[in-house]
Amino acid sequence: MFKKIMALVAVGVLATACGGGGETTAEGGAPASSGGGDSTITMGFAQVGAESGWRTANTKSVQESAKAAGIDLKFSDAQQKQENQIKAIRSYIQQKVDIIAFSPVVESGWDTVLQEAKAANIPVILTDRAVDSPDKTLYKTFLGSDFVEEGKKAGQWLVEQYASETGDVNIVELQGTTGSAPANDRKSGFAEVIGADPKFKVIASQSGDFTRAKGKEVMDAFLKAHPDIDVLYAHNDDMGLGAIEAIEGAGKVPGKDIKIITVDAVKDGMQALADGKINYIVECSPLLGPQLMDLAKKVLAGETVPDRVVTEETTFTQEQAKQALPTRQY
Ligand code: AHR
Repeated sequence: MFKKIMALVAVGVLATACGGGGETTAEGGAPASSGGGDSTITMGFAQVGAESGWRTANTKSVQESAKAAGIDLKFSDAQQKQENQIKAIRSYIQQKVDIIAFSPVVESGWDTVLQEAKAANIPVILTDRAVDSPDKTLYKTFLGSDFVEEGKKAGQWLVEQYASETGDVNIVELQGTTGSAPANDRKSGFAEVIGADPKFKVIASQSGDFTRAKGKEVMDAFLKAHPDIDVLYAHNDDMGLGAIEAIEGAGKVPGKDIKIITVDAVKDGMQALADGKINYIVECSPLLGPQLMDLAKKVLAGETVPDRVVTEETTFTQEQAKQALPTRQY
């Protein structure tokens, strides 16, 4: 609907320029909708799924922010399947939404559907996760975390903790969804930092698909195959929490016998950190909704937006988690 109004307004602006009595433009040169018309923006949002506490908080943030911004949100949950996300995007194109936003399950394989959106003149915003398309004109901007940096922060903490250790440090890694940007980047960032010292050995690394159940299952297998694990690096809190169950089930003490680093800092993870079961969490903020709605409005108003908007994040020790927990939003 917003686009139809914009087209009518554009005609009005042209008429004004030609001496007619049409509409003026809004602040910053953006066209304003003509009186009486429905200028509501419709956004189609294709979510990854509901695999983690992070994802639930992200969905809530997007839905609440759309409401607060007066944006009509069409929301779909792809249940962690790329084909479902592609179907959802195609349906948004058919419905002629004003703008599409999505968090790509995996990095590859988006060019065709993004070209379809471009051909239909529907701008796309990437949120949370990136695509590996070389054609940057297929989307307007990418809002989300720097996952490589998150992996580096996890590695830096480990390097500091084991600075005086002379023997090998045996690490197991629970990766996120195979082929996803956070799994690829958190792995590479971590590997880059610990790779500088050969005592750090990643003895096993496997996907736990960002879920608690899979984290437990894979950690169970790691524990059976490797009696000498010193450190677990889990690409999100949920897998770390599942792994804690496996560690306890194996008669070991999480946080002591096996040091644990995770990413996200959702409430359950922060509680486990405060309880001493996790040793360090690298934050990944899911509260992307307000910035997303702001960017969507700017894009549709024809304003220039940055190609990349990086989310601000921190890290948490056990002490810091105790302090942050009472006011943690998610
Ligand atoms: O893309 C962000 C990641 O996806 C979060 O770290 C994880 O919890 C989620 O499932």
